[in-house]
Amino acid sequence: MTLNSVELYHEEFGQGTPVIFLHGFPFDHTLWQPLVPLLQKEARLLLPDLRGAGQSPVPEGVYSMRDMAEDVVRLMDRLGIEKAVLVGHSMGGYISLAFAHAYLSRLSGLALVSTQSAADLSEKRQSRLKSAASVKRYGIKKLVEGMLLKLTTREAVIPGLRTMMMRSAPVAVVGALKGMAERADMTDALAQIAVPSVVIAGTDDQIIPLEQARTMAQLLPMSWGVEIAGTGHVPMLEEPQQVAEALRPLLQRAAQNHKAEKAD
Ligand code: MLT
Repeated sequence: MTLNSVELYHEEFGQGTPVIFLHGFPFDHTLWQPLVPLLQKEARLLLPDLRGAGQSPVPEGVYSMRDMAEDVVRLMDRLGIEKAVLVGHSMGGYISLAFAHAYLSRLSGLALVSTQSAADLSEKRQSRLKSAASVKRYGIKKLVEGMLLKLTTREAVIPGLRTMMMRSAPVAVVGALKGMAERADMTDALAQIAVPSVVIAGTDDQIIPLEQARTMAQLLPMSWGVEIAGTGHVPMLEEPQQVAEALRPLLQRAAQNHKAEKAD
């Protein structure tokens, strides 16, 4: 346990192969709720709130992707879970890659949703630090409204997203912005992540270009890509059925591997 350790709040549904869903920024575990009725008969779904989000503790400081990955390992330890599938959305994908790099033996499958392995270019890093300063001074409304313009074109999901995002504590938003700004480029590490992996992306994502998903699907050794037409950065809200469909083969493969390992 480090000084930096945080005990994550989580919700759980179903039984079987553990699948941990890591939400993006600045969301909370409820981002994944539309998938629960679609997948809970097929696996044990664990939906944590990452540090700073929802009902989890809100520490001060920089939220590094590595520290957030360690929060997930501690959650697994606490629940007696040796191996899990990780499903990471956007910042949750950055955390999943940090987890895969440090704890590959605890990973039975990986789904990367609307995310990238690349680090920030210097201009993006600067703009995150500027946003962090503005959030500290004026609060999160400007950041939330700016992001909402790019997250999706589906009007129906915007009010729920706004409510979820506006619940975020400014100190957590600052911590995550700084953590994302300093994250490492994981592209070269992808070749080592030899677990069944699916890369899911919306064709109209305005936050992370589709090209990033294609690169990851090429470089991950046991992966396939699924592009969801006409969706933006939050396909689990925009087209939950299609995201569930894209996850199913991964969950089935992970379940088979779990069974085979138990039989050994
Ligand atoms: C997210 O959805 O987690 C963020 O948009 C990711 C990012 O800002 O890089």
